[in-house]
This record gives sequence, C-alpha cells and structure tokens, in this order.
Amino acid sequence: MEITGKTKIMFVLAHPVDHVRASAVLNTYFQSIDDDVAVSPLHVLPADLGAVLASVRLMRNVVGFGVTIPHKTGVIEHLDETTPTAALIGAVNFVKRTADGRLIGDNLDARGFVASLAQHQIAVRGRKVLQVGAGGAGRATAFGLAEAGARELTIMNRDGAKAHALAEAVSRRYPETKVNAGRAEARAFDLIVNTTSLGMKTDDPLPLDIEGVGPATAVSDIIVTPEVTRLLEQAAAQGARTIGGKPMLDAQMALVARFIAR
Ligand code: ATR
Repeated sequence: MEITGKTKIMFVLAHPVDHVRASAVLNTYFQSIDDDVAVSPLHVLPADLGAVLASVRLMRNVVGFGVTIPHKTGVIEHLDETTPTAALIGAVNFVKRTADGRLIGDNLDARGFVASLAQHQIAVRGRKVLQVGAGGAGRATAFGLAEAGARELTIMNRDGAKAHALAEAVSRRYPETKVNAGRAEARAFDLIVNTTSLGMKTDDPLPLDIEGVGPATAVSDIIVTPEVTRLLEQAAAQGARTIGGKPMLDAQMALVARFIAR
C-alpha cells in the first residue's frame, strides 16, 4: 500500500501499544474497499492525551482515530461532541476529526457487537441473555443488547456493585427489558456473553460455569485473541452455537468507514 499526501490518516491511541490489533484490521478493511486510508497505532500516555488531541486537531490530513485501553473514558473531556450512544455508555472508541478540526466521539462497540450476532443468525429480540462482566466493554454490550430488544438481561460480575450499577443504568434507559444483577444458572438462558478478560490467557479459569448448556443456547465471547477461547471450545463441545470477538471487530470496520465519511 502506498501512502501519499492524498492518503487519509488515522491513528489508534493506546497504552500499552503492543497488543493493538485494530490498526491492522482497519488497514486490511480499508484496502479491501479500496479506500485510501492508512492507520497507525500511536503510543500515548494518559497524562499526555490532552496535548496529543490538541495536536491532532491541527493535523489536516487526519480523518479520525480509534481509542482503546486505557483512554476510552479519559478522551471524552477533550472532545467537542460525543454521540448520544457514547454518552450513554460513558466511553468512546472512535473519534472523527472534521475538516475544521472538531473532534466527535462515538462508541461503535454496542452496534458492532449486535451486528456481529445478527450476521451469525443469533437472535437477541425477545431472548433471555446472561452477560458476565460489567467493565467498559460490558457497558457497551449491555446497552446494545437492551437496544436490540432482549427480553431479559442478567448481569453477573466479580464486583457485584458494578453489575448492579450497570443493571440500573440499562433498566432506566430501556424499561421494556427486565434487567437483573447477580449470579444465575447458565442453562436457563438463550444467549450467554462473556465480556470479562478471562480467557485471554490460556490458564485463566472459565468466566462462568456452563454446565447443562446445549444446542438451545448461543455463547458469545468478545475476546479477540485468542479467536477461540476455552469458554467457546467447551460450549461448542456441548453443542451450543458460538461466536468470538473477531466478528464484532470486523462489524465495526464498516461502521468506522461510514462514521468518518459522514
Ligand atoms: P474492558 O474495558 O476490557 O471491559 P475493564 O473495564 O477493566 O476492561 O473490565 C474488565 C472486566 O473483566 C470486569 O467486568 C472485571 O470484573 P471486576 O469489575 O470485578 O473487576 C472482569 N475481570 C477481570 N479480571 C477478572 C477476574 N480475574 N475474575 C473475574 N472477573 C474479572
């Protein structure tokens, strides 16, 4: 790929930076749709975020940037605008730089997640969903699941207070979804979603016990590396339908392209 003065430039801001995969996925995507965009990871410390963003405003061939750990919340105070979705989730993962240097933040995690389920024929509307985890990614998936019409959403988390706070926030915004926090038997659900980091390392324990889960249940794990976690391996062995985190990342690519083109 040839980067010229006409190439639109994007970054992915992160700290640490060596785990970043979104830039490679974005470059591959933009090449596949023949769009002249180049994306580079950018190692930025939290304390330097304001200064870096002030500079990016002045870089006239920059069209936007992705934001990942640990900047998803911290970036908000430096932006001119956040979309209603990002404000609701309380985190931004993509920022568009307009031609006049304004910075507009959105969160594409929720829509990317729901789109990836739909692409794999995994229904959400009217279904009972069990989500494990209530961190940054979990906030996005919980709002996404309620928005997509889940009938019931149970949120289970190591730190129970965080699960309760998230359940309350989702329930306030989507009163038609019955939202609970606490432990539950996995086999009673149509869809199980892992949003914790458990499964990134091969010796991690499973994020939840899926005994009794079978073909009537779909199991989703939003971890991207490895593409097939132990949870998904076990679920598949028990006959459940499974989906990993890579499709969620892929689904966001089209959303990014549309967001920066608008
Ligand atoms: P992210 O932005 O990737 O969601 P995060 O906000 O740090 O990252 O959230 C990580 C999630 O994984 C949380 O739900 C966290 O549980 P706590 O809220 O109790 O911290 C969960 N998690 C991380 N390590 C865990 C572990 N060893 N056991 C259980 N849950 C864990």
